Amino acid sequence: MEFQKVKGLKGEITIPGDKSISHRAIMIGSLADGPTEITNFLEGADCLSTITCFQKMGIKIIKDNDKITVRGKTLDGLSTPCEVLDTGNSGTTTRLISGILAAQPFSSVLTGDASIQRRPMKRIMEPLNQMGASISSVMENDCVPLHIKGSDLTGIHYKTKVASAQVKSAILLAGLYADGKTSVTEPTLSRNHTEIMLRYFGAKVDVKDTTVTVYPRPHLYGQKIVVPGDISSAAYFIAAASIVPNSEILIKNVGINPTRAGILEVARDMGANITLCDKNEDNGEPVADLLVKSSTLHGTTIEGDLIPTLIDEIPILAIMAAYADGKTVIKDAAELKVKESNRIETVVNNLKNMGADIEATKDGMIIRGGKALKGAKIDSCMDHRIAMSFAIAALNATGKTDIKDAECVNISYPNFYSDLKALQN
Ligand code: S3P
Repeated sequence: MEFQKVKGLKGEITIPGDKSISHRAIMIGSLADGPTEITNFLEGADCLSTITCFQKMGIKIIKDNDKITVRGKTLDGLSTPCEVLDTGNSGTTTRLISGILAAQPFSSVLTGDASIQRRPMKRIMEPLNQMGASISSVMENDCVPLHIKGSDLTGIHYKTKVASAQVKSAILLAGLYADGKTSVTEPTLSRNHTEIMLRYFGAKVDVKDTTVTVYPRPHLYGQKIVVPGDISSAAYFIAAASIVPNSEILIKNVGINPTRAGILEVARDMGANITLCDKNEDNGEPVADLLVKSSTLHGTTIEGDLIPTLIDEIPILAIMAAYADGKTVIKDAAELKVKESNRIETVVNNLKNMGADIEATKDGMIIRGGKALKGAKIDSCMDHRIAMSFAIAALNATGKTDIKDAECVNISYPNFYSDLKALQN
């Protein structure tokens, strides 16, 4: 698909639902007593994989206009899946569902696409097996396919090596079934949507610094969930409005949970012109509209505790850095290597093709911004966030940018290209 320079971006956009929250609403709704009604659910391929997996375990999930209803059957209501559970491209589905499957009175097999078959699963196998689960990698390479034999679980206190919401959530969901409390301590805080939603459904969840504790066998009650717009999707429009001159975009209804909102802090630090309006809250999650206007950006350093709060936004922050004056250093972000693609490599190689001065480091990248970018052939490596980031990069580059496998945006934002087009003058 081809993209080129535009004169300016103007207008209003409503961002589709948050991917992380959409997954959790299906999962926790399935384990609750009674119906959960979800509005603004993200109908991207990843969240649809979660729906299919729970349908295969006997949960009725019905779509009616703008609403998804999950007919929850309580913690003990899942039935033996009649086939392999296919999690597609979704790391969140794979890791979170493993925590639930670890405690079921049946065995199951999980697999996914070529990308998910390369992603590390030892990080969830280790703690879940420590709780008494029996999870093995069929190919003995610590990746899917996973064979999960449900077992009686014991609560543990687990210290994770990396800040990962998927690992933390897998352990907490397993902890709902354990005998005794389960705690997870992270090196720095990762996104906390599981904790917020479990509480919202009636579970007791304690949080102290970077330690979260859940207690066994809560009675979860079905709820109404309004999914906030995904700040990870809003990020492309924050960047677009910032780097394309003569732009002004009002991004409606964006989730600004502090464990996700690092992009706002960093973009402002780089000189972005962002105003938050109409602050509100939906099911314990803060939301706001974001008004973003063109600005002159300058380089910055992105590191440490900030990294988990913007881990999925690093590709688009790298694009902003390439258009900024001066040097940007991104470090402490080795996790980028085990996302849907190796995002250090995919960002650095593609930005180099566009003429940027950028180098990979062991845990991030260094970008010397301000060089004029030119259109190029971009390999998305079937990674949705790479495709969207480079579609934005193209909007202020000379010449044409041709993105391979651009349709992979279906994973998290099926209408991305038409929404972007609607803002062009
Ligand atoms: C997610 C957590 C993040 C993020 C992913 C979604 C989640 O991964 O990159 O896209 O919904 O829990 P980590 O497990 O590395 O935090």
